[in-house]
Amino acid sequence: MNHYHSIAIDGPSGAGKSTMARALAQEMGYLYVDTGAIYRTVGLAVYRRGADPTDPVAVEQVLGQVDITMGYGKDGTQRMYLDGEDVSKAIREHIMSRYASQVAALPPVRAFLLEKQRHLAENHNVIMDGRDIGTVVLPQADVKIFLTADPKARAQRRYLELLERGQQADLEQILADVVERDRQDMERPIAPLKKAEDAQVVDTTGKDLEESRKVLRETIAKALGQEEEA
Ligand code: DC
Repeated sequence: MNHYHSIAIDGPSGAGKSTMARALAQEMGYLYVDTGAIYRTVGLAVYRRGADPTDPVAVEQVLGQVDITMGYGKDGTQRMYLDGEDVSKAIREHIMSRYASQVAALPPVRAFLLEKQRHLAENHNVIMDGRDIGTVVLPQADVKIFLTADPKARAQRRYLELLERGQQADLEQILADVVERDRQDMERPIAPLKKAEDAQVVDTTGKDLEESRKVLRETIAKALGQEEEA
């Protein structure tokens, strides 16, 4: 029997999952697991070996040859390692979003991650964010949240983020990328992005980070409280 609590947060990219889940995990003393970062590391391994990210045989071969591990830095942030090299920064490059989304559609990649993710939840209190945590990875999670916002709001946030970093950005292009990635993640046959039947929807459209965090915190506290009473 699992004595640890798990909180599953799923939703499309740009809804604020990782920022908020990380902060909440810190407040609650839970381990924060960013599962997208693991898919991104697989994507990077495939990219570096020049393999086709849509070819399941080639990708499975790469998986058998590399060592992908994760750890936590002194500041508590999740770090990803590929054959011992810290690739936490490299996996955030723009092209890795596409590679991650493509390899994430392949059965061998999902099977590879499933075990890692469940193992973490069996040994820690976790807040895990991703696309299929409440539906596939942790169907028995204590709390399931589907965190979303409309595509325009998500594109606008990403746009402001890039401008703040001094990078050039084109809002129309970012919106097109957001819509395309939603489509890829929702339409794949295995473990698509979708709300678990028993997940609670938190919509952050029109809410800033502080307001969104407040709603998320209240939703989780209520769900955990109700569960303890039951
Ligand atoms: O959350 P992110 O943008 O870093 O995720 C990168 C890609 O990985 C995303 O396009 C879909 C995929 N992914 C997934 O299929 N399942 C998850 N649990 C997490 C991410």
